[in-house]
Amino acid sequence: MKHMLSLMDWSQEELLEVLKLSEEMRDKHTHDLKGKTATMLFEKPSTRTRVSFEVGIAHMSGHPMYMDATTSQMSRGESTKDMALVMNRYVDMFVARVNSHKFLVEFAKWSKMPVINALSDLFHPCQALADVLTMKRKKGDDKLVVSFVGDGDNNVTHSLMLASSLLGYEMRVGCPDKFRPNASVIAKCKQNHQKYGGELTITTDPIEAVRETDVVYADVWVSMGRDDTDERLKIFEKYQINSDLVKNAKQDYVFMHCLPAHIGQEVTEDIIYSKQSVVFDQAENRLHAQKGLMKFLLSEKQI
Ligand code: CP
Ligand code: NVA
Repeated sequence: MKHMLSLMDWSQEELLEVLKLSEEMRDKHTHDLKGKTATMLFEKPSTRTRVSFEVGIAHMSGHPMYMDATTSQMSRGESTKDMALVMNRYVDMFVARVNSHKFLVEFAKWSKMPVINALSDLFHPCQALADVLTMKRKKGDDKLVVSFVGDGDNNVTHSLMLASSLLGYEMRVGCPDKFRPNASVIAKCKQNHQKYGGELTITTDPIEAVRETDVVYADVWVSMGRDDTDERLKIFEKYQINSDLVKNAKQDYVFMHCLPAHIGQEVTEDIIYSKQSVVFDQAENRLHAQKGLMKFLLSEKQI
């Protein structure tokens, strides 16, 4: 059974199929989840992910069930294996935002239903689906140059790198040396680039990262669960997306951010609310991309 824990084990063909289904599901109400329950477990806060999944499941005639980790037996140490074996008896799909990616891997091992990562410490694949869906709508099907500037060792960065490599885009990550992306993600992206084209550059120079790029992408400098805020705010200062930095990008670049943003830190107000910012279309596309993903995972003709 196919899950969406990360894009590490996805092919270009599968990703393109999900993107195609996402466009087909845009503004559509279906019966794909009729009579089915999809549980949404959250160990961390969320606005977009919770609401877009809840609405998307309802659009597909399913019952979205919110589960707060702190009020479940998970908070008292019930094993992940037992939780999965029990949930198998009640529900048909399991969406989870968790502290540790290991939880998802273990849960999926015992799960009889599709498991979807709604963000973990390592990956945020649903975000990346919406990101590339947005890029394709804004820029068409050409090969793009995508630049992420900020925290390289970050769930959003990792998933964006993987999605870009599967599409053969040129991906650049501008980050401090101490906050480089995870080595196994870099290795997987390099493999994908060999197969699908494009390349990955990691640089400590934010100007080099955004030079002549189509997409300038930012995320917060301090992700949920990190406790080294003071050090990060200092070290990331020169990685702010502002009007000086974007002068180096292509004239028609688009600005993207997974949100929530910390305006004045990773991005300035003039950039995030500029005409070239697509952050709210990007947020909307979470809904369409997740409907496409759920449709794909439920379909028998998974590639
Ligand atoms: N981008 C994103 O996942 O937002 P939430 O944390 O609000 O779900
Ligand atoms: N990297 C951020 C993404 C939030 C959607 C975090 O993990 O907090």
